[in-house]
Amino acid sequence: MNICVIGTGYVGLVTGVSLSEIGHHVICIDVDEDKVTKMKKGISPIYEPGLSELMAKNIKEKRLRFTTSHSEGLQQAAVVYIAVGTPENKDGSADLSFVAQAAKDIAENVEHDVIVVTKSTVPVGTNAMIKEIVQTHLSDGLQVEVVSNPEFLKEGSAIHDSFHGDRIVIGAENEQAFSIIEEINQPFRVPIFKTDIKSAEMIKYASNAFLATKISFINEISNICELLGANIENVSTGMGLDQRIGSQFLKAGIGYGGSCFPKDTKALIQIAGNVEYEFELLKGVVNVNKKQQGILIGKLNDCLPVISGKKIAVLGLAFKPNTDDMRESASILITEELIKLGAEVVAYDPIAMDNAKTILSSKVQYADSIERAVDNSDAVLILTDWDEIKNVDLAVFHKMKRPLVIDGRNCFTLEAMEKNGIDYHSIGRPV
Ligand code: UGA
Repeated sequence: MNICVIGTGYVGLVTGVSLSEIGHHVICIDVDEDKVTKMKKGISPIYEPGLSELMAKNIKEKRLRFTTSHSEGLQQAAVVYIAVGTPENKDGSADLSFVAQAAKDIAENVEHDVIVVTKSTVPVGTNAMIKEIVQTHLSDGLQVEVVSNPEFLKEGSAIHDSFHGDRIVIGAENEQAFSIIEEINQPFRVPIFKTDIKSAEMIKYASNAFLATKISFINEISNICELLGANIENVSTGMGLDQRIGSQFLKAGIGYGGSCFPKDTKALIQIAGNVEYEFELLKGVVNVNKKQQGILIGKLNDCLPVISGKKIAVLGLAFKPNTDDMRESASILITEELIKLGAEVVAYDPIAMDNAKTILSSKVQYADSIERAVDNSDAVLILTDWDEIKNVDLAVFHKMKRPLVIDGRNCFTLEAMEKNGIDYHSIGRPV
């Protein structure tokens, strides 16, 4: 099958590479020339375990190509995936201008009937809009069908998730279009759930909103545990044993970040608002997350009443481990606040420092190892649960003026920290 993917962000690139890996001929279009030049050489613009290897392999086997040209990309493609961004508007709604432009580009460049598959996360009704745009600009006599095919990959394990996902959702109104997309996806050997287009669009938002709700819920429980002297790790484990609840996404921390949950929760509040429904629960989820992202500053303040002039080591900057993605990471808010309070901030992240330098205050300094960051510091804040941080030799904290660790991801056991004489404050656990 000849497939074109428009947009090579995290969703588009992983989709294109995975589809080529299962045997399809894929051409990916992106307007960024530098990026396309690199991708043609097999260099991935994002850090994603396993992605570069699969890119190089499929380029070599001539199933995967990249271009900046819409006519080149769309000429041969029977199926076109839209995987462009849907960033947040000022009011929290999804900005659909890139999606609309992609629809127009498809219509103006295809010379045959086409199936448009929407991978981008889009509000209910967007696929209908895409169909209308394509139809309006399409040459006479050509047909377009649209299919909603939201993605559920997680950054950091996207390649693994492509081949071991829980489900592939295909929303279609046209039987033939459904069968073609079903056939394309068959080699993934992931269960396919067929539904109508609007429901498929909603499944994506509802899934992300539900997972975000789980996280804000457990974070609030962790705050109550702290006040009552219970231990959130035991509470999460005990809750998760109930299969109706499930053990995943019950890890308390410093809130969710990334390019999806923050944006999609706010967009769903807007989507509901557009039909005059106030999504009260989800508003609470968003507010709780905002508070939780700043919770470590209060803990630090309790231990160090004067933060001005102190050296604070920040370990982990990415919004979660195994990615260099800094979008909506709690590290942005936390380092901003520390700088405002007059701290000297020295940060370390195994992968995300290059990205961090373009986002965080220029006053943040960077160290090239955990040891260098921690050396002679007054306090350590842990923001991302990288394996490198979780497995660090605890002796490193004795390089501080006094071992004081404030951990937003519960990387260590209370016993180990006590045994090593470290003043340790974490999330939802007794001090
Ligand atoms: C999320 C969803 O998990 C994917 O299913 C979805 O496809 C994706 O958004 C998307 O819409 O594209 P992702 O943003 O890559 O994936 O990251 P997650 O692993 O879900 O983590 C999101 C945030 O929640 C991170 O900041 C993480 O630290 C936090 N989190 C996660 C917790 O604080 N506790 C948990 O138990 C789980």
